[in-house]
Amino acid sequence: MNTDILTIAIDGPAASGKGTISRAIAAKFGLRHLDTGLLYRAVAACCARAKADPSDPEAAARIAQTLSPEDLNRADLRSAQTGRMASVVAAHPPVRAALLRWQRDFAVGAPGAVLDGRDIGTVVLPDARAKLFVTAEADVRAARRWRELSLKSDIAYRDVLRDIHERDERDAGRANAPMRRAENAATLDTTEMSIERAVDEAIRLIEAQV
Ligand code: CDP
Repeated sequence: MNTDILTIAIDGPAASGKGTISRAIAAKFGLRHLDTGLLYRAVAACCARAKADPSDPEAAARIAQTLSPEDLNRADLRSAQTGRMASVVAAHPPVRAALLRWQRDFAVGAPGAVLDGRDIGTVVLPDARAKLFVTAEADVRAARRWRELSLKSDIAYRDVLRDIHERDERDAGRANAPMRRAENAATLDTTEMSIERAVDEAIRLIEAQV
């Protein structure tokens, strides 16, 4: 990989703060940003629209192979239901294979990029110049996600918490590209941090690596 291109991998579970942190890091270092979760969410939403079974690897892979940039702008991608289905399609190896090239192509363009997801530091960009694993206690993450979702829909905290636990288990337990901290990633636990403090800490941890 071209060493002039700065690639930064940010992984972590749902609602750990990695999205906000990744956008701030991209702005700070003048890089492009890809929220890779959106790719899996788009595959899930397109499955629903096509009435395809998200638990069928072949059907989901066909959709992943023909995903278009417009599919990433759909309005329903951030819903709890789409997040749940995203973690189902994300467990299929052919879906992950189809999305791998998309992610790497995005990363290698100048001046570089910040990618956030579950397997960026381990699988997508194992040679990233800087790596961060952002985490927080599940109940704190559920409270954050509930605050976001309850602005748009009537949803109970306990359902959000259950969803977070189920998604953590599915994402960390799958055989192919499970969510885990890369050995050379710095860990940032945001449980007790405001988002401003988490961003400051993330910048400090990244600056120490680049
Ligand atoms: O925003 P949130 O953290 O809730 O989820 P997301 O980053 O949008 O990801 C949605 C789902 O996509 C996750 O639960 C994972 O199952 C899957 N995903 C993945 O497998 N690998 C990635 N690099 C990114 C997301």
